[in-house]
Amino acid sequence: MTEAAECDCLSSLLCFLGGATALCYLLKWTWRCVQGFRAYVLSEIWQTDLRRYGRWAVVTGATAGIGRAYAIELARRGLDVVLISRSSEKLHAIAKEIESQHGRQTRIIQADFTESQSIYPAIAKQLMGLEIGILVNNVGMNYAGMLVHFLDVPDPEQRITEVINCNIVSVTQMSRLILPCMVKRGKGLIINISSEAASQPQPMLTVYSATKIFVTYFSRCLHAEYQARGITVQCVTPFMVSTNMTHNIEVNPLVKSAASFARDALNTVGYSSFTSGCLSHALQHTVLSIFFPAWLRLSPFCMRHMEQFAQGMRPQIEERVAQQHNKDN
Ligand SMILES: NC(=O)c1ccc[n+]([C@@H]2O[C@H](COP(=O)([O-])OP(=O)(O)OC[C@H]3O[C@@H](n4cnc5c(N)ncnc54)[C@H](OP(=O)(O)O)[C@@H]3O)[C@@H](O)[C@H]2O)c1
Repeated sequence: MTEAAECDCLSSLLCFLGGATALCYLLKWTWRCVQGFRAYVLSEIWQTDLRRYGRWAVVTGATAGIGRAYAIELARRGLDVVLISRSSEKLHAIAKEIESQHGRQTRIIQADFTESQSIYPAIAKQLMGLEIGILVNNVGMNYAGMLVHFLDVPDPEQRITEVINCNIVSVTQMSRLILPCMVKRGKGLIINISSEAASQPQPMLTVYSATKIFVTYFSRCLHAEYQARGITVQCVTPFMVSTNMTHNIEVNPLVKSAASFARDALNTVGYSSFTSGCLSHALQHTVLSIFFPAWLRLSPFCMRHMEQFAQGMRPQIEERVAQQHNKDN
């Protein structure tokens, strides 16, 4: 072959590879847009009837924030709700609100998920005999009110175990408890609240981010195992939602209120088993995964800026924590 023919051959090959790569990306992004349109736009018009999964929904961490919003939205959509949290007073208040405003039945279970396996037999006993169609594994906690290094977590020995029990053990044990009855009935929905902090490694939220990637993998694997038996396991990965955990940050186009987040996220049931929950969070996820990839997040350059940011935010967060404390008491 002459040198010119060789050159022609190489440039045709490069053109073909370039064209094929561009086509692959085009197809991938078109597919993502179609999926996003279905999950976040069409789902508002054609909502899945959640009552088809069964009469009762169980929500962990149901007295505040996202869990409370899920419980109210599920009741609004016609389900009776079992509410699980630590504070008996708050549980009674939300149960009363659901019964009076939505005319649904409620049960309350007082439990502290930072404790180990010992709490689950009592929970199982109180759930016995209920036709549970939906389980929302919402409860979760961070290990410090702000961004901190691993060794700066207050009381680390106890706190780390508590976070793992609350974020990982609760999801696994509650699923183990409720899934068998769903499998027997051939239908059920488990919604696991993970976090955007799990979509990439997140330094200064190290343990939280690591527990949430557990939730993501657990949910996606469980969905693959049980979807053929009529069970949907949906993993929800919210960005910022205004709750106690985020020090009730102001709602804006990027930060959702808990009520609006739960409404949007429940619309995605039946459309997606792995979702950001709402359009605004899905767009933020896409932009961040392109412009703020893991290698950049983990770089010394980014760490320095994150440390400075955390330092700068500290007084503001401390003030908000004090305000929340005064409000609670
Ligand atoms: N807010 C966000 O921006 C955001 C973003 C991504 C993911 N998430 C995830 O969303 C979930 C809910 O977060 P949130 O912001 O709504 O939290 P939150 O406002 O702090 O509410 C937490 C709820 O869980 C209950 N709870 C806390 N610790 C508990 C324990 N040890 N045992 C039993 N119940 C407990 C609380 O009630 P009691 O105090 O009465 O027990 C409350 O009802 C978490 O899994 C979180 O990781 C939140």
